[in-house]
Parts: sequence; C-alpha cells; structure tokens
Amino acid sequence: MRPVAIRTARLVLDEPTLADADRVAEYCRDPLFERYLTTPWPYSRADAEAFLGVFVPESWASGTERTWAIRRAPGGELLGVIGVREPRHEIGYWMGAAHRGAGLMTEAAVAVADWALAGGVRGATTLFWRAVEGNVASARVARAAGFRRIEPADPTVPARDGDALPAWHAVRTVPADPRAFESWTDILGPG
Ligand SMILES: CC(C)(COP(=O)(O)OP(=O)(O)OC[C@H]1O[C@@H](n2cnc3c(N)ncnc32)[C@H](O)[C@@H]1OP(=O)(O)O)[C@@H](O)C(=O)NCCC(=O)NCCS
Repeated sequence: MRPVAIRTARLVLDEPTLADADRVAEYCRDPLFERYLTTPWPYSRADAEAFLGVFVPESWASGTERTWAIRRAPGGELLGVIGVREPRHEIGYWMGAAHRGAGLMTEAAVAVADWALAGGVRGATTLFWRAVEGNVASARVARAAGFRRIEPADPTVPARDGDALPAWHAVRTVPADPRAFESWTDILGPG
C-alpha cells in the first residue's frame, strides 16, 4: 500500500525518509533504546539509512509494517516514530528525548490507533501493544490511547539477542472496553 499521512491537532504523521537520517541516528543512540527496544545497538548512521531507505518503504509497500515520522504540524523535523506491525497489528513507538513529556506520543498513538481500527488496517478489530516490564512511560501512553491490559500465557517480549524478557501486554478493541483504564491500576496506580 502507499504511505498514508495522518493529521492531529499538533502533529502530522507521514513517511520518514532519508532526509530524516540525522535525527533518527541521534535519537536512537539513547540508552533507553538499548533497554526497551530491539533497534540495533550501538546505533550507527548506516542503521538509520537502512531503516529509512529500505525498511520503511519496503514494509509500507508490502503492508508488513506502516511507519510514520512524528512531526509538528504543518511539517518539519522528525521528533519520533510510530508504527503498526503485522500480522498482529502491533503498535510500537519512540520519541526523541528532547520532545518527551509534552503529550505528543499520546496524541500520535490515539490518532494511529483510531485510524487503524477505522479501516486503515484492513480487517483490524484489535490492536496489540507490549513493552518490557517497567517501561512506565510507554504503558502510560498505551493506557491513554485506550488499550486494556491483558495477561497472556506468555507475558514476554523478544529481546535484541533473541532472549525473552518479562513484558506487559495490552489490546485496544472495537468497541472500546469501558474497563480499559482501570486495567492498568496495579502497575500505574489509579491516575
Ligand atoms: C514511551 C515514550 C514514547 C513516551 O513519549 P512521550 O512523548 O514522553 O509521551 P507523552 O508525553 O505522551 O507522555 C505519556 C505519559 O507518559 C508519562 N511519562 C513520560 N515520561 C515518563 C517517564 N520517564 N516515567 C514515567 N512516566 C513518564 C507522562 O506523564 C504521560 O503520562 P499520563 O498521560 O498518564 O500523564 C518515550 O518515553 C520514549 O521514547 N521512550 C523510549 C522508547 C520506548 O520505550 N518506546 C516504547 C517501547 S514499547
């Protein structure tokens, strides 16, 4: 499929390109990425170029993963990245360290989840999310985006080296589950 742009109050989400390589290389050198993501580590400029020049366009074309750059509207520097990976309709995201804490990822995640479940991802009635246990910021985004925690038989996520790490899992369904917010209380507290 062809890349689709999504707009929100403050953001435009569009296809990241090779012009974003400097920002991607800079942001992916964050030590949090070593801990919480499976992006290459250490992260090189060549990794950014392979991601932007090959992975992103090929996976949009094949439909295996939709990846958006997060930019302030009406467009500009890449601030972060968000995507939906098949076949599980799994949402994933990261925000450059300088841009965190402003609610931007929550805004992007709500928009992508709404888009995906409104027919953007054909046939999708459930979106999936998981994060390494302890990734509170990611869990707060998922909660704010309407996901409900689940406790699967295998509550893990693959690590960079292929090992399985303990993980939190959640789903967002259509229609939204009214108990979704409270499902996070044991790990995030009531508010
Ligand atoms: C997770 C991440 C994308 C959040 O991005 P962000 O732009 O800061 O998110 P928002 O500003 O929308 O904040 C979302 C929530 O996280 C909370 N938060 C932000 N940073 C936090 C931190 N370091 N610790 C705890 N909570 C945090 C905010 O208070 C907010 O919570 P609330 O909505 O319940 O008030 C960002 O921290 C990140 O890129 N982390 C490294 C990569 C990663 O872990 N990605 C997710 C893998 S599953």
